[in-house]
Amino acid sequence: MIDLSRRETALPELMDDPDCDLDALHRTYGHFVLVNRLVAGWRPLYRRRIRPLLSPAGAPTTLLDLGSGGGDVARALAAWARRDGLRLDVTGADPDDRAHAYATAQPQPPGVTFVRAASRDLVAEGRRFDLVVSNHVVHHLDAAELAGVLRDSEGLAGRLVLHNDIARGRLAYGAYWAATVAGFRGSFIHPDGLLSIRRSYRADELRRAIPAGWRVERPWPFRLVLSFTPGAQEHANA
Ligand SMILES: C[S@@+](CC[C@H](N)C(=O)[O-])C[C@H]1O[C@@H](n2cnc3c(N)ncnc32)[C@H](O)[C@@H]1O
Repeated sequence: MIDLSRRETALPELMDDPDCDLDALHRTYGHFVLVNRLVAGWRPLYRRRIRPLLSPAGAPTTLLDLGSGGGDVARALAAWARRDGLRLDVTGADPDDRAHAYATAQPQPPGVTFVRAASRDLVAEGRRFDLVVSNHVVHHLDAAELAGVLRDSEGLAGRLVLHNDIARGRLAYGAYWAATVAGFRGSFIHPDGLLSIRRSYRADELRRAIPAGWRVERPWPFRLVLSFTPGAQEHANA
């Protein structure tokens, strides 16, 4: 029986091995399109948290997808905004060469750009975005990396940060095991997804791991959203 009482922090995911099978990695990025659509909940997050901040005219709102991997979340957000007649420029950033090469090789909807960069590189370049989001990045990071990404996010975002990730739990683990055990051949979706759940936080653990000004939200079962609204603390203390 897998022990989910504590976060798994030692075992790395297969896709993080620089020498992993490239074909399997590409199939994994491809399979993420479906998996993210089914489990990550970006459509309701877009409708409730992102769409109200967009406008049909004037300068486009800018959004950074940090750790964009194969790029499916960046492409989906840009496509939804375009379909709604709203102006949104999306930048997907990932320091992994393989992710960047895969993301840039896909057909892109208008309004999406990918850069090979980590959050600290973008801060060093003085880049700023209205919105900063990420999907399935938080559970990848150790404590120092998480602190760095949150500090970078605060420096990069003008209006809102949403880091969306898995909430560790037995039900999530069992449901994911059953849903992915038979399909997704030749990719890392099954083993890495299960390990991702083991590496993920529970809400109380994540609350203890974050600095002041950040909030842990649980919008629906199996998910945690780490949010930050620049300026909210000053308003609260005023
Ligand atoms: C599991 S992948 C998630 C990919 C994609 N967001 C998705 O949901 O399919 C995590 C990604 O975060 C990237 N990453 C880790 N630390 C980062 C940082 N500081 N800045 C930008 N990307 C980072 C890694 O290179 C990796 O591609």
